[in-house]
Amino acid sequence: MRTVRTSAPGKLIILGEHAVVYGKPAVALAIDRRITCTVSLSSETVINGRAFDANKHPYFDHMMRYSNSPLRIETESDIPSGSGLGSSAALSSSFLKAVSVMNGVHIDNKKLATDAFLTEYNVQGRASPLDTSASTHGNGVSLNGPEESGEHLWDITMNENTWSVRNVKIPKMTMVIGYTGLHAATGPLVEKVRRYKDKCKFASDIVDEIGQTTLEGMDALRKGDIAELGDLMTKDHKLLSILGVSCNELNKLVNASLRHSYGAKLTGAGGGGSMIALTDEPEKVCEAISLRGGTPFIVKTGEPGARVE
Ligand code: MEV
Repeated sequence: MRTVRTSAPGKLIILGEHAVVYGKPAVALAIDRRITCTVSLSSETVINGRAFDANKHPYFDHMMRYSNSPLRIETESDIPSGSGLGSSAALSSSFLKAVSVMNGVHIDNKKLATDAFLTEYNVQGRASPLDTSASTHGNGVSLNGPEESGEHLWDITMNENTWSVRNVKIPKMTMVIGYTGLHAATGPLVEKVRRYKDKCKFASDIVDEIGQTTLEGMDALRKGDIAELGDLMTKDHKLLSILGVSCNELNKLVNASLRHSYGAKLTGAGGGGSMIALTDEPEKVCEAISLRGGTPFIVKTGEPGARVE
């Protein structure tokens, strides 16, 4: 029986999460943590040994509409779910790539990123195509950055927003991730920011300031100015905290890392999940994160996107 194996990477967001949902710029890098899907034809759809259940498998409920037949699906992940590291985007990109191979249809990265984004949008509610573009393309992507931020890849439009996706050149730098161990669902956090922003001009101004900070960060990335980039990441963390998406555990890990870092911030939706630190002293940052109860790991960035294994 024909079997297809695909994988796609998780991501970390250097700058711009939440504000990107409203069309502001953002930058994300693919990391060396992946989700792998092994898919074969079957008389009924079975996921990791269990019969498909739309309530238990909302992502597959949306994605199976792309498949021409029922499938036996096995997933393996080294990205904790709800960790802010793009596990749902990696699952969507990897699985939809496998489906296209099973259907015998070539899928280009624009369509794969768009279909994976539609999956996130349907399951989680309001979203941007940042995570799914990073997972599909790999390396690093900017959304709505200036022309100089990198080669144009594709545009994705949803309702009133269009996001222009570019490949970003990444200078040599070391990132440490600190996982709080707290699972945080993205949808409710995105909704919390929307309510705050709709109610209050101050929150809208903070979203604008995140956008401005991200543009300055894209400039720093292009110049390879790591110290400047770190300062902007720390500033972004403060702005995200004002929007109400940080938490004590994240703040503890960010503050502990700052002594040995150019900058640190929450990454992804917040509310738990993970933080990142940009540093020349990864071992010291790892120790500081462990001492405050987090799980640290040094990540490689700029990893390849969705692919057939
Ligand atoms: C989540 O990884 C990033 C958010 O900006 C949501 C999104 O862009 O879809 C919080």
